[in-house]
Amino acid sequence: LRIAVLFGGTSGERKVSLASADTVLTTLRDGGYEPLALDTGEPRWWERLEDADIAFNIQHGVGGEDGVTQGLLASMGVVGTGSDVLGSALAMDKLRSKQLWRSLGLPTANFAMVDAHTDAAALLSEWGAAFIKPSAEGSSLGMSRVDSVDGFKAACEAAAVYGEGILAEEFIDGPEYTVAILGDRALPPIRIEASREFYDYEAKYKGNSTRYHIPCGLSDGEEETLCRLALEAFAALGCSIWGRVDLMRNRRGEFQLLEVNTVPGMTDHSLVPMAAKAAGMSLLELLEEILLLSWQ
Ligand code: DAL
Ligand code: MG
Repeated sequence: LRIAVLFGGTSGERKVSLASADTVLTTLRDGGYEPLALDTGEPRWWERLEDADIAFNIQHGVGGEDGVTQGLLASMGVVGTGSDVLGSALAMDKLRSKQLWRSLGLPTANFAMVDAHTDAAALLSEWGAAFIKPSAEGSSLGMSRVDSVDGFKAACEAAAVYGEGILAEEFIDGPEYTVAILGDRALPPIRIEASREFYDYEAKYKGNSTRYHIPCGLSDGEEETLCRLALEAFAALGCSIWGRVDLMRNRRGEFQLLEVNTVPGMTDHSLVPMAAKAAGMSLLELLEEILLLSWQ
């Protein structure tokens, strides 16, 4: 089987993808494969796809995780790993993800699309505080927590750098959880304890101050509820094969969906490898299962 590894791209998460690709390429090579490394930030990279039977896609963000690459592969008749066009596009769009979940009765924090002219005072008096983020970007790029009207405009400007569509979400002061999905099962959930204001880009990839709890400390019943919710949220967006569902738990103990990542990070700080390890899988076994599920 000739495997191409697609990585890089041109999104804000290019650097994260380079680190993820490092893990994927090294693991495959150590496992005896000879993957073809394709940097999708290069012009005409797709010409080399002809040499591959299957493409392991490890591009994060716009262009690689949002249905664009998925559509290209489908048109070329090349099997790609992970979700198809629809699941990828919906999961990349946080607004539409939340609208869909709401319509199905799945829990997600209150939200609104905003811009610099939004009545921030009204929003903040209702919510207390808000997260402001680009509607279609990953790794917490362009995201801030806003407590006051003063900070609102700057937060919108920071988010707008990553494209149109700024999402405001009601602030949740709870711990963050993440559930890796592989095929039709949920891997052991992880509780994330960030020492920074929230689990931002710095905490995700640079610092060593974030603590990850696996087992996550929930009772068996709560953990089952969390996993079931993650699987339902994943399926609701039409996602398949593998991914990661991020959630927070509010003060009332209710889980609230944040987003689905259809190409989750695979860096040495990343969560899916951690969850796979807790489930007793090696990295190679994880990658082989993703390839096999995608091929079928
Ligand atoms: N968007 C990053 C890569 C993640 O979710 O892991
Ligand atoms: Mg993301």
